Amino acid sequence: MSRIDEQVSVWPIAGLPATLAQRTRRVYDRLAAVYPLSTMLFHSRAHRAALAASGLRDGASVLEVATGSGEMFRRLVRANPSGTTVGVDLSPNMAARTERAARKRFPAARACCQAVDARHMPFRADTFDAIFCCYLLELLSAQDIVLTLKEFRRVLRPPGRLTLVLIGQNGPVFNGFYQAAGTLVPAFWGRQVEHQATEWITAGGFAISYDRATRQIFYPSRVLVAGKVD
Ligand SMILES: C[S@@+](CC[C@H](N)C(=O)[O-])C[C@H]1O[C@@H](n2cnc3c(N)ncnc32)[C@H](O)[C@@H]1O
Repeated sequence: MSRIDEQVSVWPIAGLPATLAQRTRRVYDRLAAVYPLSTMLFHSRAHRAALAASGLRDGASVLEVATGSGEMFRRLVRANPSGTTVGVDLSPNMAARTERAARKRFPAARACCQAVDARHMPFRADTFDAIFCCYLLELLSAQDIVLTLKEFRRVLRPPGRLTLVLIGQNGPVFNGFYQAAGTLVPAFWGRQVEHQATEWITAGGFAISYDRATRQIFYPSRVLVAGKVD
């Protein structure tokens, strides 16, 4: 049993049911048309910081997991005009929207986005030079986080980097709001997991090289960059 499998049972986080994915897919499918507003208001600063910290160079093979409505995806395509940029999202409507907008904005780019579950991705080992994943881990059960980190590790080609953005967990008022929202609609909000993140990432076979907090209005985020450990 690997280190990450051993640790999952003792992670002190409120678990989400493993069956939540179907509901998550439905709720994000329904919200695909209005989701860009939330990304613009709360996520865009962290997206900028994540791209800057990632060290992404043009010509790379890039994967974004959980694209949402595609705002970060378009940043990646713009930064990687002679490379290949692939996106995946559990919600078919989000994936379709992401691909359509990127193709319209960057018709010459090699970019596509498909409806794919991050827990089981249809890519060969060592395919990507860079992986980006913003605000997904909050929506996954502990077991699904293990599966997803294993998939990141499998498809990332050394010396590639994994760039993650998480919801920050450092303000009591924001935390209280998030807990209440997550109790009401867990499939949309999930729960904050920032405090456990570095432990998971390390247990998943990554070494963290960059770790910064950002804030947009009242919404805290944390940007992490990590590389695969042999
Ligand atoms: C909070 S949104 C974040 C969207 C975007 N990354 C951003 O930064 O604005 C979470 C996204 O994760 C997707 N998602 C949830 N579970 C997933 C899974 N198992 N595999 C792939 N995507 C998933 C949802 O459909 C949704 O679009």
